Amino acid sequence: MFKWANLFGKKNTENDIYSPDKSIRCVLELRAGQLFYSAYKNDKRIIKPSRLGFLICGETPLINDLKIIREQKKKHEETIELQWGEDRYINNNYNETSFYLSEEKEQKRIFTLRFRVFNNAIAFRYEIPPQPKFRQITIKDELTEFNVDLNTIAWKIPAYQPDRYEYNYEKTMVHQLKKSVHTPLTLKTPTGQYLAIHEAALYDYGSITLKLSQNNILKTDITPLSDGTKAHVLLPFQTPWRLIMVADSAIELTTNRTMYALNEAPIGDFSWVKTLKFIGIWWAMFVGEWTWAPGERHGATTEHAKEYIDAAVRLGISGLLIEGWNEGWEGDWLENGINNKFTVSTPDFDMDEVARYAKMHNIEIVGHHETVGFVDNYEKQLEEAYNYYAARGVHYIKTGYAGSMMMINGRREFHHSQVGVRHYQKTVELAAKKHICLDIHEPIKGTGIERTWPNLLSREGARGQEYEGGALSPSHACFLPYTRLLAGGMDYTSGILDLANSVKRMATTLSRQLAYFVTIYSGMQMAADRPFIYEQRFQEEFNFIRDVPTSFNTTIPLAGEVGEYYVVARQDRNSKDWYIGGVSDENGRNIHINLDFLEQGGVYEAMIYADAENAHYRENPFAIVKQTKHVGNSDSLNIFMAPGGGFAIKLKYKQN
Ligand code: NOJ
Repeated sequence: MFKWANLFGKKNTENDIYSPDKSIRCVLELRAGQLFYSAYKNDKRIIKPSRLGFLICGETPLINDLKIIREQKKKHEETIELQWGEDRYINNNYNETSFYLSEEKEQKRIFTLRFRVFNNAIAFRYEIPPQPKFRQITIKDELTEFNVDLNTIAWKIPAYQPDRYEYNYEKTMVHQLKKSVHTPLTLKTPTGQYLAIHEAALYDYGSITLKLSQNNILKTDITPLSDGTKAHVLLPFQTPWRLIMVADSAIELTTNRTMYALNEAPIGDFSWVKTLKFIGIWWAMFVGEWTWAPGERHGATTEHAKEYIDAAVRLGISGLLIEGWNEGWEGDWLENGINNKFTVSTPDFDMDEVARYAKMHNIEIVGHHETVGFVDNYEKQLEEAYNYYAARGVHYIKTGYAGSMMMINGRREFHHSQVGVRHYQKTVELAAKKHICLDIHEPIKGTGIERTWPNLLSREGARGQEYEGGALSPSHACFLPYTRLLAGGMDYTSGILDLANSVKRMATTLSRQLAYFVTIYSGMQMAADRPFIYEQRFQEEFNFIRDVPTSFNTTIPLAGEVGEYYVVARQDRNSKDWYIGGVSDENGRNIHINLDFLEQGGVYEAMIYADAENAHYRENPFAIVKQTKHVGNSDSLNIFMAPGGGFAIKLKYKQN
C-alpha cells in the first residue's frame, strides 16, 4: 500500500466524526501535512479521500504543512420551527468537530474546519480568522473535492450558460463531468446510495459549481468574478457550508432539510411575512394577447388591473402581479433595460389608483422590477423603488434579472458570482426593512437563507412553465423534486389550464397542472393562467387551485424515481386537511397510495382530480376524471397517471 507518511517522513492522523445514529462516518485525515476527508454510510464508502484547501492570490497555497492544533467536539440536538414552508418542524441534530489548523512552517497561517455530521447529511465549512499579517485575501481557487466513484450517475444542468439555471436535466456519469455543472448535483452511487452535493448559507462568495479536476476527481469550481479570481474576502470570513445530502432512496432525498438547519434563525420580527397565492397580468403577454410595452394591447393598464382585482376577489385569490407597469419596456426590452425606471409608471397606468382599489378589495399587489441584469441601474434606484411600493401598501415584489450576464460596477459578471450574490442579498435585506417579500426570478440558487430571511418567499432558478410551447418535456417536472427543489421552493407558475393554446401549447394534462401546486412548493404560488380561463372553463378544477395551501405542516414523499415520477402528500399548516400530488414523465403508470399517514379514526372527504384512462399530454390532455369519496387511514387509493399526466387530491378532514 502506498504510504504517504513514509514518503514524507511524517505521521498521518485520522479523526472520525459519527452521525448521531452512527450510520454516517466522516473521516478527516492529515496526510503528510495535507488535509483530506472521506465518508461512509453504513460502512460503505460514499466519498473517497478528498482534498481540502485554498489557493490564495499572491500567497503560497493554503494546503501544505498543516497540523491540527486543537479539536473541539460538540453534540447538538434541536427542533427548529420554520415560519412557513414544506415542513413546520425540522431536526437540527448533529455531531460537530472543529479542527483548529495551522501551518507548521512558512507563514503559520491559521484556519478552522468545522464538520457537522447529521443522520442524513455531512456539512463542513472553512473559517478564516484575521491573520497577523493581513486582514483580507483574494481567493484564486477553492480546492474542496467530492471524490465520488467515477461510475456514479449524475443528473446535471450545465453552468456558465446564457440561460443561467434554466436548462433541461440530463442523466450522465460523473466521469463525463468535464464541464462545470450547477448544484444541487444529485448522484446515485454504484452501491445504490443517493447523494446531493450542494451548499448552504451562501453569503458574499461565489456560488459552487462542480467539475472533474485534471486528476479526474469531482471538485468545486467557484463561480469566478470578471477579474478571474473567485472572491475578495475580508477576514474573519467563513465559506458557505459544503453540503452532502445522503439518502437510501430518491424520495428520501426530497425531504432532506439540512440546508435550512445550517442557516441561522431569523434576527428580528418577521411575523408580518405571509405566504401568498396570486394571479397576474402575465400569461396574457406570453400568449400574445397583451404586451408588456405600452400600446394598443398594453397589459398593465389601470382598467385591466381593476378588472383583474375584481377577478381575484371572485376567484378567492389574495394577490395580483402586475408586470409591464413601468417605463422601460418599449422596443427590445432586453437591450433597452439599462434605462428601466422603477418609480415611473406608463401614462395609462395609475399606480395610486390601482393601489387604492386593491386595498379597498383586500387584494395584495405583487409589484414587479425587471432589471434585465442591469444591477448598476437598479441599485441606483433601489431604496427609492422599494419606498415607492411601500408607500402604496405593496408588500410583495417579483424581481427579474433576465439577460445572460449582470452589469455590476460597469463590468459583466455572472449572476452566481460573489458580486451577484452580494446584490441579491442587498435586495433581500432592504426589502425586509421595508416589510416587503420577494419572489426573485433569474435568482441566485437557494441555499436556505430564507430561514434567516423569511421575506424571501420564492425564487425561480430553473426552467419554469414559460418554457412550455416546445422547450419542456414531461420529464422536467419529474426531475425538479430530486434536483432544483432540494434548494428550496420555486415559482414554477403553475395552473395554466388553457393547454391547447396555439401560441403556447402545454406538454401536460389538465389534472397535472393542479398537481404542480403540491409537487412544486413555493411560498409565493402563482395561479398563472388568465382569470377568464378559470371562471369560464374550469370552475371545478379551480376550486383545487384556490384551496391548496401555500404553507404546510408536514411533507411525506410517497413514491418516485429521479426524472420518472414523483408523488407527495402534504398536510396544511392550518388545518387537518391533506393534499396529494403526483406527476409522471412521458410514460403512463398506476400508483397505489396507502393512506396510513392520515389521522387514525379520522374521516376525510377525498376530492380526486385524475387523468382519464385515455388521457395523454399531447393527444388528449383535457381528459380528466373527477371523483369524491370518503376515506380513512386504513384505506388506499389506486390512481392512474397518463403519459405526461398527473393527479391532485384534496383530503378534507370531516370528523373522528
Ligand atoms: C423572465 C421571468 O421569468 C418572467 O416571469 C417575466 O415575466 C419576464 N422575465 C419579464 O420580466
